[in-house]
Amino acid sequence: MRGLTTVTLVLAGLAAHALAHTAPPPLPQRRKSLGFGPVLPHARFETSPPSTAGFAPVSSTDPFHVARDFLSHYVDPAVGRAYTIRSDSYTDHSTGITHIYARQIIGGIEVADGHINLNIKDGRILSFGDSFFPGGAPASVAGEPVHPHAVYCSQLADALVFHQEYLVDSLDTAPQSTLSQDQRKTMDGISTLSHLLESNCAVIAPPPSLYAGENSQIDMDPRRSLLVFMASALPQSHPELETVLENPEKYIQGIHMTPETHLIGEHASIGMVLTNVPGTVGDVKTHVAWVQVPREDGTVQLELVHRFEVEMEHNWYEATVSAALPHRIISVVDWASDSPMPIHGQDSEQFPPLAAFIPSGSYLPSVDSVHKSEIKTRPRLGKAIGDRKKAKSKGKLSSHSKQEDVKAFAPIPRHKVQLAKYLVFPWGTNDPEEATTRREKVEGTDGTQHPLSYGRRFMSELGDTLASPVGWHTLPYENDPSIDEDELRAARARGEFWRLTNTTWGNNVFAHENWDGQYRWITNYRPEGSSVTADASLLYAFPYAPTSKDADNEEMDQAKKYIDATVAQLFYTSNMAHDLFYRYGFTEAAGNFQQYNFGRGGAEGDAVIANAQDGSGFNNANFMTPPDGQNGRCRMYLWNTASPYRDGDMEAGIVIHELAHGLSTRLTGGPVNSGCLGWGEAGGMGEGWGDFIGTLVRSTDEYSDYPMGAWASNRDKGIRNYPYSLDPEINPSTYETLDTPGYWGVHAIGEVWAEMLWVVLQRLINKHGFSDTLFPPVPDAKGRIPNNDFYRPQEYDRLGKPLPLVPKHGNTLFLQLVITGMKLQPCSPSFFDARKAILQADEALTGGENQCEIWAGFAERGLGVDANVVGQTPWGGGVRSNGFEVDKKCHGNKHPAKPAPGNPDEDCGPFGWCWPWKDENGRYKIPKLPGWPWANYY
Ligand SMILES: *[C@@H]1O[C@H](CO)[C@@H](O)[C@H](O)[C@H]1NC(C)=O
Repeated sequence: MRGLTTVTLVLAGLAAHALAHTAPPPLPQRRKSLGFGPVLPHARFETSPPSTAGFAPVSSTDPFHVARDFLSHYVDPAVGRAYTIRSDSYTDHSTGITHIYARQIIGGIEVADGHINLNIKDGRILSFGDSFFPGGAPASVAGEPVHPHAVYCSQLADALVFHQEYLVDSLDTAPQSTLSQDQRKTMDGISTLSHLLESNCAVIAPPPSLYAGENSQIDMDPRRSLLVFMASALPQSHPELETVLENPEKYIQGIHMTPETHLIGEHASIGMVLTNVPGTVGDVKTHVAWVQVPREDGTVQLELVHRFEVEMEHNWYEATVSAALPHRIISVVDWASDSPMPIHGQDSEQFPPLAAFIPSGSYLPSVDSVHKSEIKTRPRLGKAIGDRKKAKSKGKLSSHSKQEDVKAFAPIPRHKVQLAKYLVFPWGTNDPEEATTRREKVEGTDGTQHPLSYGRRFMSELGDTLASPVGWHTLPYENDPSIDEDELRAARARGEFWRLTNTTWGNNVFAHENWDGQYRWITNYRPEGSSVTADASLLYAFPYAPTSKDADNEEMDQAKKYIDATVAQLFYTSNMAHDLFYRYGFTEAAGNFQQYNFGRGGAEGDAVIANAQDGSGFNNANFMTPPDGQNGRCRMYLWNTASPYRDGDMEAGIVIHELAHGLSTRLTGGPVNSGCLGWGEAGGMGEGWGDFIGTLVRSTDEYSDYPMGAWASNRDKGIRNYPYSLDPEINPSTYETLDTPGYWGVHAIGEVWAEMLWVVLQRLINKHGFSDTLFPPVPDAKGRIPNNDFYRPQEYDRLGKPLPLVPKHGNTLFLQLVITGMKLQPCSPSFFDARKAILQADEALTGGENQCEIWAGFAERGLGVDANVVGQTPWGGGVRSNGFEVDKKCHGNKHPAKPAPGNPDEDCGPFGWCWPWKDENGRYKIPKLPGWPWANYY
């Protein structure tokens, strides 16, 4: 490949120049992760749905009728165009909006990246995202083969060469003993680009022995395609990589295929389950699909692919590989996201170089050993339960979503919950140091030397009966993966449904150590709570008193000694996050993580598996988000950045960042589509939401700047380029920052997004004040939410039906808008799409009263109406220009302009979309205009 050769040459040149002056920081050994795919030119997100495109008014407010009516325009039997509505579509009770997800079908085959998401309220389409293929079935499936993987890799290699040449030039023209800030930034860029290149581009062409046939010939057997993917996906140091490259036939013969029905909505097709695949830790699922591939001439064509779901030790991939020869990877999303990716900042000479690493040689020897150790003997978590559930739900698929509606607030089984207590760093404090400082302030003991554990307090289980109706330590025997069939039978015989545990094991979270870094987890060690009072409540209080040690192994031994404390903390933080997200709309129907869903919709059997002190790495954390119904997996690491070691489990911001990956991935594009935040701006925002929510949780009514991961990384500035700050001197990030060296990775992109959200948040806090708690009041025994200061006064529609409650204060309101925005935005959103979605969430919830604050906040950081981007690639790049303009309705107006009725020119946008306004009774009105189909509905 052209690019790679050049890279090598320039690297040699770089060494000759740069190393002579100052040793560049060693390239961190990072988790290998692939992520790229086509950026579709026709994908769009319309928040001003067209009224003139021939969508006849529907006479029903049933959102499914409205959706079918809209989607009927995408059906053309003559060219095989059709669609199916996915069964994970749902109505969101926190907004009253129904989210409907459709997948395109062409010629009877699913289009893997053909999505429509419709947001419908009161019979009206508020907005929709659309990436359906614009044409019909191709006359022949094989065109000139396009190879997007090779194209992206050559762009990436070019970018790397550009950065290196720039650095070499600058060193030539201005020799000096230390690197300037600009040069260091370029170094960061080189480091990121090298990692991307090593991860994604090590193997681009299939191994020669897999060329079995003529170009363009279609190969319906998925096994060769899969091995082409595995050749790219296996880390360079994986013991089986060489054999995969040199003797793939050996594996092909050994891979077993079992047919399985693949279902999306009402559309069924035959897929395969492949077992015995090298480097995997579970069965590989596959089916045939189309993927849309843009061509150089600007057109888009369909490519027939094998779509795979591949679970590996450190990755969980959704990948598509062309069925036509030569096999080419078309797209790949890693459902695993790293959290903090430490960078070499300008202070790196003063701090130990941080390398987020996976120790080499830690790979599981082969798939067989994993299977035999646990998976074969015990039912794979989720699977056994999933099978039980599947059997139950057969035949209900088409009406799934509507049933959810009916049952959404069905009574919860009566169960007396004794709230547990924990000795932990309390929710709202980020880390041991912050907890200590805040406690000192409260107690007036400023300046005293306290042990690290001083900030811990006895905290009670939250007891939110809406979010966790049976508490954090109870789950049904039926849904407990540690219960075997005999135990289950015995429980049934005793007439017991609920299992109350005395460990960090419950309906939302399974927390435990994972020192050996292995895949199994059910039998891993967990602390037990003890009963100290007469009631049945349990106390989880364990020692935590780390002190400085001399040697690494002593550090490690010491960390292991406080495992009880750290697992209890991880369990507490993760359950708090579960309950918080729940109350802002991450419910069962929306795809949250729970073993049992209380009949409230969604797929169950998917609590978060939370590994504390995971031995598979250091100085990082990661989270895997498979589709709804399969467990999320959170791995927290120790940080060897200080003595004593710092334990990532003790830093709430990092834990919340990880859990927020689960939130944003399940909400964007719907519960069963985990492929919507794979790379580029979308992948970056996936990181940004985590930083933002983690920072929001720790913030107080006294404004302060906050770095991310500062405690764990032992750096004042934390693990991002800048702390989150209103002050552009402290955090200068704007939209254009994405084009600077070092911003080609999702973490740097996410940092810019999180900064924008931080700025918008402060504007809403200025306007609406600050709530000391992010948690809404818990419903009373009758299920009514007590009236305190958390929500605005309850409002009713004209039929007397209560409208969704809206948080009153700036911080709670904006959290609600951000989470609702995730549900509204399309699959693979851009910054523009996500901004639009937040604005629309505000319209839906407050009638748009904060439009101008939101615009002003984004515009302050360059994401105004006139911001622009051309030429995006999957990993960043492109040319962005800042826009500082706010929407014209906000000009010269401190408060949002409320359009007055009566003047269609002013009230209606280019597509005939008209601004709704509130009448004297506070109800929404839309001008009645000819051709405006939805005017009927208010
Ligand atoms: C926790 O429960 C198990 C089994 O139910 C029991 O053997 C153990 O003693 C309990 N632990 C404590 C600390 O009460």
